[in-house]
Amino acid sequence: MTQDRWTAVDSYLTDLIVQPEPALGAALMASAGAGLPSIAVSAPQGKFLMLLAKMMGASSILEIGTLGGYSTIWMARALPAGGRLVTLENDPKHAAVAASNFERAGLAGMIELRLAPAIETLPRLLAEGRGPFDFIFIDADKPGIPDYFAWSLKLARRGTVIVVDNVVRDGAVIDPASADINVHGVRRFNDVIAAESRVSATTIQTVGSKGYDGFTLALVIADQ
Ligand code: SAH
Ligand code: DHB
Ligand code: MG
Repeated sequence: MTQDRWTAVDSYLTDLIVQPEPALGAALMASAGAGLPSIAVSAPQGKFLMLLAKMMGASSILEIGTLGGYSTIWMARALPAGGRLVTLENDPKHAAVAASNFERAGLAGMIELRLAPAIETLPRLLAEGRGPFDFIFIDADKPGIPDYFAWSLKLARRGTVIVVDNVVRDGAVIDPASADINVHGVRRFNDVIAAESRVSATTIQTVGSKGYDGFTLALVIADQ
């Protein structure tokens, strides 16, 4: 039971239950057409993010790592009228594809795309008084996760939900001798979160079209 079966099951579940809207398929097509890497969340994962945001009644969402905006479109669909989503991307080509995908989806008015390294935009958002966000999705470069998480806490409130993608990495996360800087980014993040009393967190391992990976879900439980 490995990759082929996981992909087939994702496909079955996507068609039957997830039912992504046409704008999502169009965003993936445009992203692939422009040569962007196929590393967006899967459809079941995207809908999971959308449902989480909806369950908590999020009206302000922050995403770190836009790519072509596939996960962004899922999450934006959870927003009520007047809700806002800010998404951070440092690759101009990815940002251009995403902007056109938001336009096509009719979401350009509620999504703010900030083109710069996330580590520069995050302090700027704080200085601009843009927090607190209700829901935060961390999905950019993996060595940056510990810093992105620290800034996310500053941009959060008690009750904010923070989701961090790609934290299991084929199980390599348990290998302290790994030569992969992404694994080390995740391991440093895990050490941070283990010692962080302001959040209560869990990590769920996943399999699917994107292989064997996982995500961390952290609930901010202290007033900031
Ligand atoms: N969330 C997207 C996938 C993001 S892939 C989805 O699921 O649809 C990771 C993205 O993070 C890439 O587009 C990459 O260009 C961007 N990225 C990498 N390093 C970054 C940085 N330092 N600041 C901002 N974005 C960065
Ligand atoms: C990569 C990044 C992601 O966010 C992801 O979900 C899968 C792969 C990557 O950089 O390879
Ligand atoms: Mg990811």
